Amino acid sequence: MDIIEKLKEEHLKIRTILLNLEMHSRKGSVDTDGILFNLKSLYDIWDKHEEKEEDIFPYLEKRGINVPVQELRFEHGALRRHRERIRAALISGAALKIEEIINLDLNIVIAKIREHMNKEDSVLYGVSWESLKEKDLDEVKRIVERG
Ligand SMILES: [Fe+2]
Ligand SMILES: [Fe+2]
Repeated sequence: MDIIEKLKEEHLKIRTILLNLEMHSRKGSVDTDGILFNLKSLYDIWDKHEEKEEDIFPYLEKRGINVPVQELRFEHGALRRHRERIRAALISGAALKIEEIINLDLNIVIAKIREHMNKEDSVLYGVSWESLKEKDLDEVKRIVERG
């Protein structure tokens, strides 16, 4: 599978999950099971996705491509903390805590993930893959197809 398509596909999958999360967390019709299901789907994709990015982005940067590596890595850390808070609240099962998390953390994390992916997409869509040498492309391909 083409490298660009693989990464685009993962971002599209995540965007779909975020839409589902929004749908299930609408005021007045909060569906905790739906939220849990979609959070699980998000968590299943996300860690490996981040791992690949943390390999690929510095790799591209070293080859002269403009990538905000530190910023993206910092955001990965921040997003991880948000996810952990949401997970802890859901596991606790306390209705009030869950409601609070949905109102605060979940909506914030959805917005932050979208913002984060927009930045990454601008890198991925901006890369001139043709300008990378065959050897570099093979290395990037290896990283992407690993997960
Ligand atoms: Fe990322
Ligand atoms: Fe990403």
